[in-house]
Amino acid sequence: MSAIVYVPKDASALSLGAETVALAIAKEAADRGIDLTLKRNGSRGMCWLEPLVEVVIAGERYAYGPVSASDVPGLFAAGFLHNGPHSLQLGRTDRIKYFSSQQRLTFVRVGVTEPTSLSDYISHGGYDGLRTALSLPPAEIVQVVTDSGLRGRGGAAFPTGIKWKTVLDARASQKYVTCNADEGDSGTFSDRMLMEGDPFVLIEGMTIAALAVGAAQGFIYLRIEYPHAYRTLVEAIRVAYEAGYLGADVLGSGRRFDLEVRLGAGAYICGEETSMLESLEGRRGEVRVRPPLPAIKGLFGQPTIVNNVISLASVPIILARGAAFYRNYGVGRSQGTLPIQLAGNIQRGGLVERAFGVSLRELLYDYGGGSASGRPLRAVQIGGPLGAYVPASQFDTIVDYESLTGIGALLGHGGIVAFDDTVDMARMARYAMEFCAIESCGKCTPCRIGSTRGVEVIDRILYGVDRAKNLQVLEDLCETMAEGSLCGLGGMTPFPVRSALRHFREDFTKPPVR
Ligand SMILES: Cc1cc2nc3c(=O)[nH]c(=O)nc-3n(C[C@H](O)[C@H](O)[C@H](O)COP(=O)(O)O)c2cc1C
Ligand code: SF4
Repeated sequence: MSAIVYVPKDASALSLGAETVALAIAKEAADRGIDLTLKRNGSRGMCWLEPLVEVVIAGERYAYGPVSASDVPGLFAAGFLHNGPHSLQLGRTDRIKYFSSQQRLTFVRVGVTEPTSLSDYISHGGYDGLRTALSLPPAEIVQVVTDSGLRGRGGAAFPTGIKWKTVLDARASQKYVTCNADEGDSGTFSDRMLMEGDPFVLIEGMTIAALAVGAAQGFIYLRIEYPHAYRTLVEAIRVAYEAGYLGADVLGSGRRFDLEVRLGAGAYICGEETSMLESLEGRRGEVRVRPPLPAIKGLFGQPTIVNNVISLASVPIILARGAAFYRNYGVGRSQGTLPIQLAGNIQRGGLVERAFGVSLRELLYDYGGGSASGRPLRAVQIGGPLGAYVPASQFDTIVDYESLTGIGALLGHGGIVAFDDTVDMARMARYAMEFCAIESCGKCTPCRIGSTRGVEVIDRILYGVDRAKNLQVLEDLCETMAEGSLCGLGGMTPFPVRSALRHFREDFTKPPVR
């Protein structure tokens, strides 16, 4: 019988040498006359163990990692195909605590299946949700999603079912489903991991969305910096068309749904939904004034769903297992699970899917293992470059939308970036303003001018020029940007700045920079 070995082809694993590891394993097996089937999966999300090689023994998967090409001859010599002992041996993959303690619903197949194998997808529960959806009238599909409590995972946490109902109720001959795969937030990679590891779940989620609102065309707006995700999506879409899951007659239902991937041009603001629509229409990514909402007048002026990758990819399991199943995960008004991404100065960076309600401390220490530098963690930034800095004294906060709002923070897309005690928070505040100045679309004054003035004011504070006065100017500027900006870029830049001022004031009053 042929031995089966999995080597991930996720971008994170590839960047750490997974391709050379795969080639070395194939060569070593051939040299030794071993019949070996090499399968390429997505990542299990334990980034510090990549490339994570898995061997199938009696139907179970055993992990070794992080493996480099030079380890391969030694692994064969140690009998790793039969779970032989080796310093890189990790035991059964599903029993590694980081992995086994998660609650994987959206990511249930990521790292498990071969990403573009439709048969693998279906044999692991794929397309069960679409089959349920095809048996329901549109309004009932929308009701199931509403009842599940799913809120948008792109950042704004708006209830997905309510957005879909608005599109369903809008009268138009053409409607669209668009997926926001721009994933611009620092420290986030769940969209990428999902698209590279289980593209069919996104395609299925978008197809269900189309059935729910009466759309016949969908677009995935993908950031150009994700070439591996692009190739995987394009191949999965081709396979889905060929098997009748996309196209003129989805699964013989008489319903049409066509799907294309469009590449963005690499601007952070193109992740904001109205800029994304502008960019999809072939124009410069610039924010549109709302109202009208995209759900009423979106792509090419038609009613349009704009949802994040994870929101859409969470829909199939909701349809397959029911609203109550999904809603039973989580706390309060934050229902279901969230793929949390641990990044920055952290020992065990990676993806942790847990129900809302896990504490920051558990994520940072039980999963993350503390800082990579070994020094005490001083702060984390949650929710991307526009997210607040949360000090160590608040690490017992629960991760859910309301608890984070309660401490003046935001969950955003679930990215957590860790910093140790060497971080200078005044410089981080300056960086937030600088980021806004560079990425501003320029449409409104508080953001376009305010962010540039913000960098200058923080520089004056750092250089010790009229500190008390400039600290007040900075507070006033933050208020102007928060209240007067047209969109979240200018409107949320005050979050990191104000949180740095609130929790780390001492960094703004240190001896001046010379
Ligand atoms: C400056 C800015 C950047 C954004 N970037 C993204 C992004 O990269 N991906 C995303 O899904 N949403 C992003 N959003 C949020 C979108 O505007 C929108 O709320 C989201 O795509 C809706 O999908 P959801 O309801 O499924 O979360 C961004 C918002 C702002 C203000
Ligand atoms: S806040 Fe910034 S990015 Fe948003 S519309 Fe105004 S100028 Fe453009």
